[in-house]
Amino acid sequence: MVVSYESIEPHRLDAGMINEIRDVHGRAFAASVVGTEYPATEVAAALTAEASEPGFRLCVARRDTGQLAGFACGYIDFLQRPASGWSKRLADALGQKRYEWLDQQFGFAWFGVHPAFQGNGIGSALHDRLFAEVRCARAWLVCPAHETRLRAFYEHRG
Ligand SMILES: CC(C)(COP(=O)(O)OP(=O)(O)OC[C@H]1O[C@@H](n2cnc3c(N)ncnc32)[C@H](O)[C@@H]1OP(=O)(O)O)[C@@H](O)C(=O)NCCC(=O)NCCS
Repeated sequence: MVVSYESIEPHRLDAGMINEIRDVHGRAFAASVVGTEYPATEVAAALTAEASEPGFRLCVARRDTGQLAGFACGYIDFLQRPASGWSKRLADALGQKRYEWLDQQFGFAWFGVHPAFQGNGIGSALHDRLFAEVRCARAWLVCPAHETRLRAFYEHRG
C-alpha cells in the first residue's frame, strides 16, 4: 500500500477535509476498544475551533487513491482559556501541577487510522511526523488505563 504524509496548515482545513477526518475518526473509534465520547458533529466543531488555536498542527496520511487513511493533530494548551472535555478533566485531576504539565504545552488531541489500514505503520508515521514539528517542552494526551496496547504505543514514543 502506498501512503503519503502531509502537514496541513490551519487555513487548508476546509469543510471537505473535516468531513474526511470525521469519517475516519468515526470508523477508527467504532472499531476500537477505546470508544469515544465524541459524536461526529462534535468532532467537526472541535476541529474547526482548534484550527485557530496557537500551535495547531495537523498531519494526514493518504493512500495513492487519494483516500484519507489517518490523521493526527493537536494544539498548544493555555490554561487561561476555559477548558472543556478531556482538557478540563485532566486539568482538574492534576490540581496545581496543571501549570507545569499543561499550560502552554502541546495537547495531542485527535489521532486515528482507518481500521482497514491499521497495523501498517501509518499511526507511527503520523505520530512521529506530528511531533517532529512540535516545539513545546511537554505534550499531553488522554488514554484509558485499560488500553494497554495503546499505552504501550505512547510509552515507546516517550
Ligand atoms: C492507535 C492507532 C492510531 C494506531 O494506528 P496504526 O496505523 O494501527 O499504528 P501502527 O501500525 O503504526 O502500529 C503501531 C502500534 O500501534 C498500536 N496499535 C495498533 N493497532 C492498534 C489498535 N487497534 N488498538 C490499539 N493500539 C493499536 C500498537 O502498539 C502497535 O504496535 P504493536 O502492534 O507492535 O503492538 C489506531 O490503532 C487507531 O486509530 N485506533 C483507534 C483510535 C484510537 O485509539 N486513537 C488514539 C486515541 S488516544
